[in-house]
Amino acid sequence: MNNSTHTKSDTFAVMKQGNVFKFLSNGEWRTSGSGKTMKEVTPYDNTEAYEFQSCSQQDIDEVFKAANRAQRGWAKTPLWKRAEYLRKAAVILRENKDEIATALVKEIAKNRKSAVSEVVRTADLIEYTAEEGTRLVGKLMTSDSFPGQKRDKLCLVHRVPLGVILCIPPFNYPVNLCASKVAPALITGNSVVIKTPSQGAVSALYLAASFHLAGVPAGVVNAVTGKGSEIGDFLTTHPLVNCISLTGGGTTGMSVCKKVGMIPLQMELGGKDAAIVLPDCDLDLAAKAIVSGAFSYSAQRCTAVKIVLAVEPIGDELVKKVVDGVKKLTVGHPEENADITAVINKSSADYIESLVFDARQKGASEVCPYKREGNLLWPTVFDHVREDMKIAWEEPFGPVLPIIRLKSAEEAVEFANRSTMGLQGCVFTNDIEKAIHISDELSTGTVQVNGQPARGPDHFPFQGFKDSGLGSQGVYFSLEAMTKIKSTVINLRQESFPMN
Ligand code: G3P
Repeated sequence: MNNSTHTKSDTFAVMKQGNVFKFLSNGEWRTSGSGKTMKEVTPYDNTEAYEFQSCSQQDIDEVFKAANRAQRGWAKTPLWKRAEYLRKAAVILRENKDEIATALVKEIAKNRKSAVSEVVRTADLIEYTAEEGTRLVGKLMTSDSFPGQKRDKLCLVHRVPLGVILCIPPFNYPVNLCASKVAPALITGNSVVIKTPSQGAVSALYLAASFHLAGVPAGVVNAVTGKGSEIGDFLTTHPLVNCISLTGGGTTGMSVCKKVGMIPLQMELGGKDAAIVLPDCDLDLAAKAIVSGAFSYSAQRCTAVKIVLAVEPIGDELVKKVVDGVKKLTVGHPEENADITAVINKSSADYIESLVFDARQKGASEVCPYKREGNLLWPTVFDHVREDMKIAWEEPFGPVLPIIRLKSAEEAVEFANRSTMGLQGCVFTNDIEKAIHISDELSTGTVQVNGQPARGPDHFPFQGFKDSGLGSQGVYFSLEAMTKIKSTVINLRQESFPMN
């Protein structure tokens, strides 16, 4: 990109017509053929955040055809050059982090500090992916390593792109979890179609625009906007889709799995991440990690601590420390960097409230009391939760933390494993051997020892067991997920070996 052609203030002017955002199709920012737009309101005061296109099936069909055409040329673009485009996109993101953070604040109520850090983390992720992608090498196999075979065949094994990747990021990380799909797809020679989340659409469009402004050829990066309920099926079952990478709710993910044909899927669908606290642990450390793990971004993270399993006799002391930590959290506006901000929308707030009322009515102790103003929910902690309460099993995706008291580590593991989800879990103990045994027993993709669940750093493998997902993410693992193995076998003719 020639930086001189884009001053800071007009860098992204190409995305808009007046105040309405366009979608990216075949290298052009367009308005929908349907003539329809959608309006999005802020989670915190219900005022209009942005307006963007409501793409039609015809818009989407054109996007897929463009992506399909462009992919062949992109795959033949030298790898070092593809890496250069990625690095340029990372520079654009970093230079415009404040403007992009403003969209995150308005659309998803992420506090400004975390919003800026999401953009910077994304630039880092893209640069790391460019490096890792250029190091992806194939291998050579020889026939004589198999019993009874002679050395008369050489097999060249390498990875080739899948084609067009449909990238569906969630509302909670519309920049970072979009890039974690787009960057590995591009470096390995795929083209992408991004379906932006309805809440968070403009933030994801900024990500697409960063690749566009970096000069990625027309059709290689495309982004469509619109309601999932109207265009979701058309997108996911389109015959030109060669892979879907989706992060989102379990219901959406399961429904996609049932409808699509024989294409690779990379899915991350949420979790009920348990924090198992053993009596021998550093309780201050455990309480701090639980408060931060449970309430960052108002608990709207699939890796949030969603249940605490306290092994007696430390229950009382742990609860006291957790309550002390929760009392220090600030509640308010994302621009003011409050720890707890409004949850994404009214229906989410209503659902969280229904779980609170259920636990309250069934007799859980409300040690940090629930309070609600619109979509803003105060951090709530329930102690003495029992298994007949919905909060013990469901994922609120909001600031409500249940604590269950159990008698032993074995009981805690058994309880955690009864969840239908299996994203992450964590165990707090000073006994490393016990921690390893618990990790071996827990049916989750990752177990953190003496730390809160987390996806990052972004090159670590990230995967859910059971209903939490399919496949692994994390930079290297996504490079593998977005490629397939290709073999070329060279048969060596015996007569060309005069020495044999
Ligand atoms: O909820 C999405 C998940 O990827 C959270 O990521 O980085 O907050 O652990 P992180």
